[in-house]
Amino acid sequence: MKQALADHLDFFRQFRETFATTGAVAPSSRFLAKALTEPLSRRSEPARILEVGPGTGAVTRHIVRQVREGDRFDLVELNTRFVEILNGRFELHPEYRKVAHCAAVHHVPLQEFQTTAPYDFIISGLPLNNFPPSLVEEIFGAFFKLLKPGGVLSYFEYMYVRPMRKLVAKPDEKQRLAGLEEVIHRHLGPHRFRQDWVFVNVPPAWVQHLRTASAVEA
Ligand SMILES: C[S@@+](CC[C@H](N)C(=O)[O-])C[C@H]1O[C@@H](n2cnc3c(N)ncnc32)[C@H](O)[C@@H]1O
Repeated sequence: MKQALADHLDFFRQFRETFATTGAVAPSSRFLAKALTEPLSRRSEPARILEVGPGTGAVTRHIVRQVREGDRFDLVELNTRFVEILNGRFELHPEYRKVAHCAAVHHVPLQEFQTTAPYDFIISGLPLNNFPPSLVEEIFGAFFKLLKPGGVLSYFEYMYVRPMRKLVAKPDEKQRLAGLEEVIHRHLGPHRFRQDWVFVNVPPAWVQHLRTASAVEA
């Protein structure tokens, strides 16, 4: 309880200081975290897992509980304060310590993250709706480069945020939102296999699940 409150305060501080990249006033709810980690919970083999934009760890906690022998868990986070919090968890929190031998927090933007092998699951909290279309294009490029054939990307976006912002936007912002819409739909179209509706979250969110073509199909 004390930790949840501290996380909310830290998150809110980062929201005020770095709105564009933090992108939310509060960490995700456990219902949203559960929807994001559902494909991971159904795997039967050891897996390589990447979490992007873990923040204060609202989703990380659910991933940590699912990490098993033979798995690899990497986290990529841009924000210095969030990286400190997460590293502290892997040092001190009993559940995190159990998996610390196969986990690492990388303090780098996703676009610059390098790895030696691709991932079975990518779970992302990046606030794509805050970014310019060119950056979102780059981020999808990174997601697909980092996923194995047949790998699953799960990410969330707040419901109806683009149409609602469009209603009150100035021309430049309208153009950015239209560009985003185009980039996101072009990537969702061929890859999305499911969308979950999560109402118990501030604000309510959709979880998009995408799968890359398997080696057999490709
Ligand atoms: C909306 S918060 C989500 C935090 C957490 N996953 C949750 O659901 O509560 C977005 C997170 O993405 C991080 N972030 C933003 N841009 C990033 C980038 N290019 N690479 C890595 N992390 C980034 C922010 O610092 C922040 O932690």
